[in-house]
Amino acid sequence: MTGRPRANIAAMPSYKPGKAAAEAEAEHGISDAIKMASNENPFPPIPAIVEAMTAAVTGVNRYGDNKATELRGAVADWLGVDVDMVTIGAGSSALLGQVADAFVESGDQIVYPWRSFEYYPILASRSGADAITVPLSDGRIDLDLVADAVTSETKIVFLATPNNPTGTALTTEAIAALLDRITTDTIVVIDEAYREFNDPAHGDPVEDLLPDHPNVLVTRTFSKGYGLAGLRVGYGVGHPDVIAQLEKVTAPFAVSNIAQAAALAAVQHHDEVMEVVGGLLEERSRVRTRLLDAGIGHPEPHGNFIWIPVGDRTDELALVLERTGVVVRPFPPEGLRITIGTTEQNDRWVDALVAQLTGE
Ligand SMILES: Cc1ncc(COP(=O)(O)O)c(C=O)c1O
Repeated sequence: MTGRPRANIAAMPSYKPGKAAAEAEAEHGISDAIKMASNENPFPPIPAIVEAMTAAVTGVNRYGDNKATELRGAVADWLGVDVDMVTIGAGSSALLGQVADAFVESGDQIVYPWRSFEYYPILASRSGADAITVPLSDGRIDLDLVADAVTSETKIVFLATPNNPTGTALTTEAIAALLDRITTDTIVVIDEAYREFNDPAHGDPVEDLLPDHPNVLVTRTFSKGYGLAGLRVGYGVGHPDVIAQLEKVTAPFAVSNIAQAAALAAVQHHDEVMEVVGGLLEERSRVRTRLLDAGIGHPEPHGNFIWIPVGDRTDELALVLERTGVVVRPFPPEGLRITIGTTEQNDRWVDALVAQLTGE
């Protein structure tokens, strides 16, 4: 071993992304594998975004604007908030890391429902915090249990809605009731990575919660709905004091100029992007119906993925699907998370899963 890693690093969890299609092909001697394991958008970005990125390419001899001034202004206008309530990050993951860096000290508590986004335990471990997990009930987040778990030592509550991997969503009304039960000393992060796929009836935390709750931080991303996962750009919306703390701990020039240009075009052409999302939502409901018709129960999905709670069969089924060229994300011993892709991709994984679970 070279160097002297932190004492707790050996015990730290690490992020395990879904297997790449090429990796599965090499492992199983197959071709034409598809990756349905990372909740990516199956379609390339819309032409206006590609044009904006292309135009920005020759500018990469310079760093991107450290404050992402134009993009931040456009996001603030779009959301109807002051510009000092918005920060831009290198994906919402980076923003989640910034919240932990800015607000958590060793020995503090971070509370989150579990199972949820796998980065939360890593962030707790990284900050030396105690991770207090709250069990899901049938894949759903129970906000009463979350409120019960919060103490004066709790610095952050992470709430993913829709939740990854179960796809269930919270209403802003229910989150408001949680906020009424805890003090403003705890930052409540509402992680809306899958917002574009969510039912608008669940509410908008920026409109419904931020005006009365300075301890709420909403994080969103251009990775999923907008098809920009590989660019790494997202944004956070919150009280200016919270945003100012997050900005103290960001890496210099964290968001490239190509990413800023692409995200700006995404905001400017939001309606067009939402047409692509609309097609994925139609696919999601088609897939849901097929699964339900085959007797494969699952929680109603609100993200661009479906949670199949297959319990002890999780690893076995993931392997069988992988051998047929469909890479899914196993979370043993609970279930499989499978991304909604194109019609052809979805038919491939649904056919394979139905065959395994029903023998048809
Ligand atoms: C719940 C949740 N939050 C945040 C992220 C991070 O997304 P990104 O860093 O690409 O913005 C993901 C990615 O899968 C996620 O599932």
